[in-house]
Amino acid sequence: MTDKKEIKPKVETTGHSWDGIKEYNNPLPRWWLWTFYATIAWALIYTILYPAWPLVNGATGGVLGWSQRAEVASEIEAVTASQSQLRDALVETDLGVLARNEELHRYAVQAGGALYRTNCSQCHGSGAAGAVGYPNLLDDDWLWGGRIEDIALTIRHGIRNEDDPDARFSQMPAFGDMLDRDQIATLVDHVQSLPNGADPLGGAGGALFAENCASCHGDDARGDREIGATNLTDAIWLYSPDDEILTSLISQGPYGVMPAWGDRLGEYGVRAVAAYVHQLGGGEGDAETQIGDAQAADAPIATGADPSNPADVPFPEKGDGGAASRSE
Ligand code: HEC
Ligand code: HEC
Repeated sequence: MTDKKEIKPKVETTGHSWDGIKEYNNPLPRWWLWTFYATIAWALIYTILYPAWPLVNGATGGVLGWSQRAEVASEIEAVTASQSQLRDALVETDLGVLARNEELHRYAVQAGGALYRTNCSQCHGSGAAGAVGYPNLLDDDWLWGGRIEDIALTIRHGIRNEDDPDARFSQMPAFGDMLDRDQIATLVDHVQSLPNGADPLGGAGGALFAENCASCHGDDARGDREIGATNLTDAIWLYSPDDEILTSLISQGPYGVMPAWGDRLGEYGVRAVAAYVHQLGGGEGDAETQIGDAQAADAPIATGADPSNPADVPFPEKGDGGAASRSE
C-alpha cells in the first residue's frame, strides 16, 4: 500500500530513478537560496574593495587601497618608533644605574640576548659558558672587569684586535726564549699548585714566579684586570691546567683576541649586549653599590667588589677614584 503512495507523489520527480528510488523535484529552501545569493554579493563587494583578481604583475588593488604589506609596514613602523625611544634612552642612560629603570633594563637585556645569540655565541657558547681560550661569561671571574661599564668597554673595542686602536691590549711574553725547559716545567708545576693554596712566591717555582711572572700576575698571583692578566689562584682556567697546554702557553705566550663590536652593533647594541652579559650571573656592582649614595660615589672602589681584597681593586694606583672617572 505504501508503494502506491510513492508512485503518485505530490511533487514532481526529476525522472531519475535508482533501484526504484525516485528523486523529488523540490525547490531549494528559501533560507538556503538567500544565503547563497548573499555570499555571491559579498564576494563581488569584497573583490571591489580589496585586492583580489590576479593580473600579470600583481593583482587588482581594491578601492580601499588596503594592502597586507602596508599593514605590516605600518605595524613595524609603530613598533620601531616605540623602540627607538627605548634605544635612545638606553644610549643616554648611565649604565651604572640602568638596572634601576626596570622597563629599560628588561628591554636592554632582551635585545642584548638576541644580539648575543647572533654575534657572540659562536665563540662564547650559546649558554655563555665559554670554551678553551674563550672566557666563561657566566661566572664572576673577570679578566678585564665585571662592572657593566667594564663589560661594555670590552665589547665596544674588543681585545688585542688590530681593527680598533682602543682595543684592550696586553701581551704575555713567550718565555720559551728566556727560560729553559726545566724552569718552564718547574713553573708549570708551580702554576698547577696555586689553586690548591700554594704560596705564589714559595720554593723554586715561587722564585721563578717572582722574577718572571709577578709583575703582571701579581705577588699574590691573583692577576691584574687592568692588563687582563688572569687570576692564577682560582680553579678557573681561561686555557687549561693540562701539562702540555700550560707548557706551550708559558713558552709561547697566550694571545686571546676578541673582535671590536662598537662599529658593528652601534652604541645601543653594545650597551644592550653588555646589559645581557652583566645579568648572566657574574656581573659586578649594581645601582646601589655604584652611585647609590654619596659615599659610594666618592669611594675608590665602587664596584661591589671586596675592598679588602687587593685583586678586586681594578685600578688601585689611579688615585683619582670614583666610579664616574673610571667608567670611560
Ligand atoms: C671570534 C671570537 C669571539 C667573538 C665572536 C666574541 N668574543 Fe668575546 N672574547 C673572545 C676572546 C678570545 C676573549 C678573551 C680575550 C682574552 O684572552 O683576554 C673574549 C672576552 C670577552 C669578554 C671579557 C671577559 C672577561 O673576563 O673580562 C667579554 C665581556 C666578551 N668577550 C663578550 C663578548 C660579547 C658580548 C660578544 C658578542 C657581541 C663577544 N664577546 C664576541 C672571543 C670572542
Ligand atoms: C706582561 C705581563 C705578563 C707576564 C710577565 C706573565 N703573564 Fe701570564 N698572562 C698574562 C696575560 C695578559 C694573560 C692572559 C692572556 C690571554 O688572555 O690570552 C696571561 C695568562 C696566563 C696563563 C693562563 C691562565 C689561564 O687561566 O688559563 C698562565 C698559566 C700564565 N699566564 C702564566 C704565567 C707565568 C707562569 C708567567 C711567568 C713565567 C707569566 N704568566 C708571566 C700576562 C703576563
